[in-house]
Amino acid sequence: MEKLDQRIQLVASKQFNELVDEWRRTQSDLPSRSEAIRRLVQLGLQFEENHPMRVLSAIIRPDRYEAVREALTELGVGGVTVTEVRGFGRQRGKREIYRGAEYEVMEVPKLRLDVVVPATVAEQAADAVTDAARTGKVGDGVVWLAPLQMVRRIRTGEENTDVVS
Ligand SMILES: Nc1ncnc2c1ncn2[C@@H]1O[C@H](COP(=O)(O)OP(=O)(O)OP(=O)(O)O)[C@@H](O)[C@H]1O
Ligand SMILES: [Mg+2]
Repeated sequence: MEKLDQRIQLVASKQFNELVDEWRRTQSDLPSRSEAIRRLVQLGLQFEENHPMRVLSAIIRPDRYEAVREALTELGVGGVTVTEVRGFGRQRGKREIYRGAEYEVMEVPKLRLDVVVPATVAEQAADAVTDAARTGKVGDGVVWLAPLQMVRRIRTGEENTDVVS
C-alpha cells in the first residue's frame, strides 16, 4: 500500500465538506473524509486521463453560423462538422420566426455543429459558441459537451490531442 506520510493542509468551506460527506455516505466502506477526498481526486484524475477530449455539439440558428465559425476558428479548432437539422425546444417551434415568417410546423431548421476539442479548451469553446450564437430571442438553440474516450484521424492513425493540433 502507498505510504501516507505527506501532510497537506486543506481549507474548505462547510458546503464542500457537506458535499464530500454526502458522497462518502454512498460508499459501501464509508471512508473517512480524508480518504473520501483522496478517492475523489483519483477519480477525477482517472477521468481526465481516460477522456482527454470532448465533443462540443451545438444546435444554432443557420444565420449565426458565420459568427460561430469565426469564433471557433479564432480558438484554433481542428475542424467542424456542420449538419442541417430540424428540431424544436420548449416552445415546440411554434412561435419561432424563420426567414421573416412565423414557422407553422413544429420543427424549425437549424444547424448542428460537432467540434472535437481537447478537454482543456472545451469550456472556452462552449462559451465562444454561446456568445456568437446568441440573439437573445427564443430559439437560439443549445450547446453541450460530452467526454470522449478516443479520437483518431483515419489517414494517419494519430489519436487524441494529435488530431486537433
Ligand atoms: N433538450 C434538447 N435536446 C436536443 N436538442 C434540443 C433540445 N432543446 C433544444 N434543442 C434543439 O435546439 C433548437 C432550438 O431550441 P430552442 O432554442 O428553441 O430551445 P429552448 O429550450 O426552447 O430555448 P428558448 O427558450 O431560448 O427557445 C431546437 O430546434 C432543437 O433542435
Ligand atoms: Mg425555444
